[in-house]
Amino acid sequence: MAEEHVHLERRGDVALITLANGKVNALSTAVLGQLEATAGRLVDDGVGAVVITGGPRLFAAGADISEFALDADLSSFRIADADRVRGIGAAFVSALGAVAALPCPTIASVSGFALGGGCELALACDLRIASTRAKFGQPEILLGIIPGGGGTQRLARLVGPSRAKDLILSGRQVGAEEALAMGLVNRVVAPDELDDAALGWATELAAGPLDAMAIAKRVIDDGLEGDLDAGLQIEQDGFVEVFATGDATIGVRSFLEHGPGNASFH
Ligand code: COA
Repeated sequence: MAEEHVHLERRGDVALITLANGKVNALSTAVLGQLEATAGRLVDDGVGAVVITGGPRLFAAGADISEFALDADLSSFRIADADRVRGIGAAFVSALGAVAALPCPTIASVSGFALGGGCELALACDLRIASTRAKFGQPEILLGIIPGGGGTQRLARLVGPSRAKDLILSGRQVGAEEALAMGLVNRVVAPDELDDAALGWATELAAGPLDAMAIAKRVIDDGLEGDLDAGLQIEQDGFVEVFATGDATIGVRSFLEHGPGNASFH
């Protein structure tokens, strides 16, 4: 049986996904398949939030660059053909799409390099927390290629096209503070506080109204696909949908009985 490079643990209501593939956590198509299967297992698992993390020095160094060559031997080197490239791109789209489609909140906990596909995986999560040592980047241009795991799209939607072009056209890495300033990460903490901070944040989210949060994140993501009018209509549909959930009954009733912020959803 193939070695598992994606580990799943349950910590109370939180699922912790840890990447563990060799020295640099390269996201080979096999690892992406395991990540997709792991995300699939969480869809109906009643999990309240997901944290995705890598190793202390490397979240993930991106696509497995050895897969970019049909023959990696330098004397007979042949770059990947279109079928191979399509396969790699499809593996990224499916796996990161499966992460992005999880109904519960997802947090990337980044404690080192998140480069290329590693940065794209972090972008596929709802939220990002980084240690002060983290480095983010889309270095594909330095290989003479472009991101193929959502980087051009998710990064531009998150930080705006100008900042995304700065990173993607230069391939430069940004540290945690710059990533925070540009909105690429939500929170920065000391390296030895990262694991607890990520799990604590996920635990807080997991105690919230899960159906309402699922609708909120879906409405935000779907709304960004189209123009403002289409997005506002998606929001109206979600607004009606959320009132039919138990979360709305609990939350509104609790407000009227006990005031703001006191609802206990489960
Ligand atoms: N895919 C496959 N192998 C990779 C890799 C990747 N994305 N990133 C690094 N490696 C390999 C290196 O070739 C090296 O292999 P070797 O030990 O057989 O020589 C090994 O991992 C360690 O890399 P090294 O560069 O020596 O380690 P480092 O600690 O100095 O730097 C990184 C780590 C991640 C900063 C650096 O390797 C790097 O920038 N990697 C490329 C990232 C990238 O371009 N990603 C986008 C891919 S499209």
